[in-house]
Amino acid sequence: MEKLYFCTMLMESDKHITGPIGVFDSGYGGLTILRDMRLLLPQYDYLYLGDNARAPYGNRSFELVYRFTLESVEALFDRGCRLVILACNTASAKALRSIQQRDLPMIDPTRRVLGIIRPTVEKLGELSHSHHVGIMGTRGTISSRSYEIETAKLHPSFTVTGHACPMWVPLVENGEAYSDGADYFIKKEIDALISGDPEIDALILACTHYPLLLDKIKRYTPPHISIVTQGEIIAHSLEDYLHRHPEIDSRCSRSGRVEYLTTESAGRFSDMASLFMGEPAQASHIEPGKKTHTTLCPTI
Ligand code: DGL
Repeated sequence: MEKLYFCTMLMESDKHITGPIGVFDSGYGGLTILRDMRLLLPQYDYLYLGDNARAPYGNRSFELVYRFTLESVEALFDRGCRLVILACNTASAKALRSIQQRDLPMIDPTRRVLGIIRPTVEKLGELSHSHHVGIMGTRGTISSRSYEIETAKLHPSFTVTGHACPMWVPLVENGEAYSDGADYFIKKEIDALISGDPEIDALILACTHYPLLLDKIKRYTPPHISIVTQGEIIAHSLEDYLHRHPEIDSRCSRSGRVEYLTTESAGRFSDMASLFMGEPAQASHIEPGKKTHTTLCPTI
């Protein structure tokens, strides 16, 4: 009882401390979300974490994706983040609900973790005229059927066809995005998706790594199909969320800084992030997976 009271007091006093917005992905993919957040909301500080040492997540079990994601969220919390965005569809599909409902109340109910599937589905009404939408993602995202479930709630007249592209993330994580070999896998999956539903007029890239393959995806997608990436959608959704939640907004620090953490090589991450963000980026290495289910209160 005493411990609980002390924790509550700590959380109360903690309410006035600010910290960066945490952005998490299994690897480089979340940079495609961070870039648009920075463009729209440059005043905030951001702390990005790529779990490159354990990427890709796409073919991993529910339990592993959940554990890796929770560990990463805790690493961002430990470094001062009050709000963490899972800039990863696979983590949003497999870990978000458990973290929000089971872990956050124990860790710190005043902090927030948000995903990227719901805000993307909210936009579908504006993106398709035929009401036939194609979703390309990792095996984890597609087999979770998260997009179908959310779409059925918000746009019941829509037909959603999901298609997994298990080779696309490894192409990005291994620096093969621009190689000739990538063309084969990109064309193959787009052809398979469209043959599954020829009425599709909007193709959602429901994996944050896929915009890094955008030039080639455009090359093999028929011109009447619009290709939708998530960066702008998520940035606008974050702006709206912070507007509606001033108690969270006031806990996000604002000096326009970005810092990068990776569980793999800091040098390689810095090169990729600098290239992609169009500004010098200096990443730091952290060890993956130190702890789970810690409360942020000291043990008494
Ligand atoms: N970028 C992630 C996503 O949006 C996951 C990629 C992976 O690690 O397989 O799903």
